[in-house]
Amino acid sequence: MTTDFSGYYKKTRTERIALIKEFASLTAEQAELLESSSSANSLHIETAEKMIENVVSVYGLPYAIAPNFLINGKEYAVPMVVEEASVVAAASHMAKLCKNTGGFTAKASNPIMIGQIQLAKVKNFETAKHKILEKKTELLILANSFDPLLVKMGGGAKDIEVREVQGKRGNYLVVHLLVDVRDAMGANAVNTMCEKISSNLEEITGGEKRLRILSNLAIHRTVKVSGVWSKEDLGGLEAVERILDAFDFAQNDMFRACTHNKGIMNGISAVTVATGNDWRAIEAGAHAFAARNGNYTTLSWAEKTQEGNLKVSMEIPLAVGIVGGATKVHPLAQLSLKILNIKTASELAEIIACVGLANNVAAVRALAMEGIQEGHMKLHAKNMAVSVGAQGKEIEKIAEEMIKIKQVRMDIAEKLLKEIRK
Ligand code: MEV
Repeated sequence: MTTDFSGYYKKTRTERIALIKEFASLTAEQAELLESSSSANSLHIETAEKMIENVVSVYGLPYAIAPNFLINGKEYAVPMVVEEASVVAAASHMAKLCKNTGGFTAKASNPIMIGQIQLAKVKNFETAKHKILEKKTELLILANSFDPLLVKMGGGAKDIEVREVQGKRGNYLVVHLLVDVRDAMGANAVNTMCEKISSNLEEITGGEKRLRILSNLAIHRTVKVSGVWSKEDLGGLEAVERILDAFDFAQNDMFRACTHNKGIMNGISAVTVATGNDWRAIEAGAHAFAARNGNYTTLSWAEKTQEGNLKVSMEIPLAVGIVGGATKVHPLAQLSLKILNIKTASELAEIIACVGLANNVAAVRALAMEGIQEGHMKLHAKNMAVSVGAQGKEIEKIAEEMIKIKQVRMDIAEKLLKEIRK
């Protein structure tokens, strides 16, 4: 079955659930989780209490499905959790158009995370560095002895690099422990290893250990992704040219690059949240990666193909896991993984990157052409109608009227609601 769920957005919620149930071969129980989550939050309060401290309630957010993703020849219906209107529709629309040219190509690197160990008061950096590298094998064996399971699965500490960081209070010898974390996000495994080998590093260097923590700038754990959109699907050659201008602007202006990247993160964070992953880590890593050459710039870039179509590519660090943390305990996060039908964290990272790219192209295309307000306004008007108390058919009526008179405002929504109810 493909994810070409024709008119998915027009179906009722029950119909949508039935389709995703069939597509992802969900059990009746799993489908029921989607059904019941609209009234009672799917994250049980007892589970929530085990996740964080001082819990008083559970906060709900919309959980949606973006169909149409064809990635490396495989079809995906992607769960997204996001509060912003249009993000899901935009992702799914751009994915559908990308399917016309063969879909996305995505390739994740090995899941290598960096753990940092800061050493202060090292007297001779060159000698210390030399000594650490001399003892590399021993240090790696020691680090790996604290996570035999990870090693058994083919992961574990793989390499050590040594850097010097100049601070205002002194210089620091910074050891990078490179760990293949397999299907985990990796924070626990990496932090434990860093803590455990830090005393040995003190002995080797004569320095004093300070911080021992993973870096969210996961430059060795990235996904490279690209997609092609035909000029016909984008609105002609002129549209392609305008989109290229938009990319050129963003690549050369930090103010625009930030918003351009925000459009990418709309998709990335939504899938990251839906799968129970740490979206702050992903956000921090992405923006640092965008500035890795000293200038903050775009994560994605565009070019015109020989046929005059638009090819957009991106490289982004994506440290996501499918074992441990909220991915394991949040019932909907578990269900998201089931719906995605993925086997590895790398596959999840590839999907997430594609959704980010789809959202990016959708936003830039709209901005370069008609502007984004038109599409946004309808949903915005509906939200406004709901917030003044409109119900059922009143919502659509008020929204349509506000768009028609080009006055999408709270006071107008209130006025129209009063008139309807008179
Ligand atoms: C809004 O959530 C995202 C955009 O601002 C992205 C962009 O400007 O490229 C529309």
